[in-house]
Amino acid sequence: MSVRSLREVFKGDFDIGAAVNIWTVDSAAELIKAQYGSLTAENEMKPVNTQPAEGVFTFEKADKIADFAARHGMKLRGHTLVWHNQTPDWFFEAPGGGPADRETLLRRMRDHIRAVAGRYRGRAYCWDVVNEAVADEGEQWLRPSKWHERVGPDYIVRAFEYAHEADPDALLFYNDYNECNPAKRDKIIRLVKWLKEQGAPIHGIGMQGHYNLESPSIAEVREAIERYAELGLIIHVTELDMSVYAWDDRRTDLKEPTAEMLERQAERYEQLFALYREYRDVIRSVTFWGAADDYTWLHNFPVRGRRNWPLLFDENHRPKEAFRRVVRTAGVEA
Ligand code: GLA
Repeated sequence: MSVRSLREVFKGDFDIGAAVNIWTVDSAAELIKAQYGSLTAENEMKPVNTQPAEGVFTFEKADKIADFAARHGMKLRGHTLVWHNQTPDWFFEAPGGGPADRETLLRRMRDHIRAVAGRYRGRAYCWDVVNEAVADEGEQWLRPSKWHERVGPDYIVRAFEYAHEADPDALLFYNDYNECNPAKRDKIIRLVKWLKEQGAPIHGIGMQGHYNLESPSIAEVREAIERYAELGLIIHVTELDMSVYAWDDRRTDLKEPTAEMLERQAERYEQLFALYREYRDVIRSVTFWGAADDYTWLHNFPVRGRRNWPLLFDENHRPKEAFRRVVRTAGVEA
């Protein structure tokens, strides 16, 4: 039985992508080639991997993914240039010890972006320039981080400027999670408006899309898309997956997902894709955070010893009910 290709089914709507790593480009190569039209490196382009020590750049792993994308005619999303996580400590330390000052940090940021975005110029057509800079809880607007504390809020503006300088053709994104939570959404909007006032070259908002069977509600997702779209930028869904557990569900006993979980997941995915299609003028790309359920960052996270099944293909790379329902939103049968 031949299976429809997501890439083909949604061709007139948006790109369909998957996050991959140096192992899954081998273990899921056939599935990736058949289904996805865009790749994101799960970890391989992050600062911790690309510049482990100052001036020491390591691109073998990132190149493996970029080469795979090029060889199979796929797009490549760059991820990620500036983040508080997975960034080596040396970035923030002065040569003689102690905290590095603002000038040093900005120089390092610029050198890093120039090297990384410069290397993939003409290959990565877009970049997540700054990842997760907004605070999750409370009144605080921007997350406290070493970038924020030592440079000031304008570190975000500078990152976009440096990225534009390194690759003037790349589309530049601000990327974040919990992006449909109304309070956080409004902080993200405030950030994007401020960036535009500052003249930062920002082109899009990355809605990560780490969801579960209960939240966010489809109404919240719709509201977030509407509000982001009003900013006049494009939207990419950058890291879509759907945990079969509610956030506070700590169960570790399941060896496979229950029928109820799979049905609810299929229903939610169908609702999401119907919504994405309504907004296809602004949503230009939808990337899953993984290719199939045999490998997902959600195995063992946030609960150790627990498996999860958050994607459209099962552990044997066969389409799940969620796949059939997603395909159906485009008016074709799987
Ligand atoms: C965030 C990051 C991703 C990845 C996920 C977990 O969403 O943007 O790069 O680290 O967390 O896999």
